[in-house]
Amino acid sequence: MLVLESISALRQTLRDWRSKGISVAFVPTMGNLHAGHVHLVREAKRVADRVVVSVFVNPTQFSPGEDFDAYPRTPAEDAEKLRGAETDLLFMPAAAELYPRGSDAATFVEVPGLSDELCGQFRSGHFRGVATVVSKFFNLVQPDVALFGEKDFQQLMIIRRVVADLDFPVRIHAVATVREPSGLAMSSRNAYLTAEQKAQAARLYRCLCQAAEAIGRGERDFEQIERQQVEALQAAGFRADYFSIRRESDLAPAGQDDSDLVILAAAWLGKARLIDNIRVTRS
Ligand code: PAJ
Repeated sequence: MLVLESISALRQTLRDWRSKGISVAFVPTMGNLHAGHVHLVREAKRVADRVVVSVFVNPTQFSPGEDFDAYPRTPAEDAEKLRGAETDLLFMPAAAELYPRGSDAATFVEVPGLSDELCGQFRSGHFRGVATVVSKFFNLVQPDVALFGEKDFQQLMIIRRVVADLDFPVRIHAVATVREPSGLAMSSRNAYLTAEQKAQAARLYRCLCQAAEAIGRGERDFEQIERQQVEALQAAGFRADYFSIRRESDLAPAGQDDSDLVILAAAWLGKARLIDNIRVTRS
């Protein structure tokens, strides 16, 4: 596995691969890799000749007061896991390599509307940071395919929209959420949970499943379902940011005629802000 930190070395290697007709799959991450990330990498290996993974804790997607400094950084363990998953190239740039002007960068990729909903209401500027850094990575790596987890469903939708609107020549490949046996979605932020909280955290997924079952039974009052599950979360010790039943195609609030839905939730448990979602198809 090649480990590169500079843009020039990355570009040179990729130019060389492309000139030989080698296809490239790209998996952007913020490191502290878990089985969910590794699953993305293995899937990437299946769909292209070479796999490039980036590990970069992107400062621009954290708001002031968020967990940028505390975000777990485990570069040696990450490299080991990526080697085990047959990664060809690990790109781990320093912040100054990607943002030489620091906070003075003037160009951003924004997806208004989609970015202002759900997590965007609680994390101002977050999706602008994500859309911008992912666009930069797409320009640097120029992959044939890029893989993203459904765990971050809103992020996935925003990336798809950026690619469509800006004509990036990359195919977006979505990968299903990898969960602990308890149902808890794997996340680097689960590291903030105590053992007791971790057992408790699986409740978030159970609430999503209960809401999906209620819809499956034909319950139609979405707002009531949302209210019930927020109450269940609060009773279980969470502080819910939102629990929301949306239309899958554009994340607009679900209407009675919509058949493809996604239920999304974000809730705090101790120091961790957990997000998760589940899709439901109404017959
Ligand atoms: P990060 O949270 O490290 O996630 C990297 C990728 O792994 C994302 O596509 C995410 O959806 C996926 N992922 C995380 N947990 C997963 C799980 N349990 N199952 C399946 N996939 C999972 O998302 C980011 O980093 C950043 O915002 C990034 C896109 C790298 C831009 O900085």
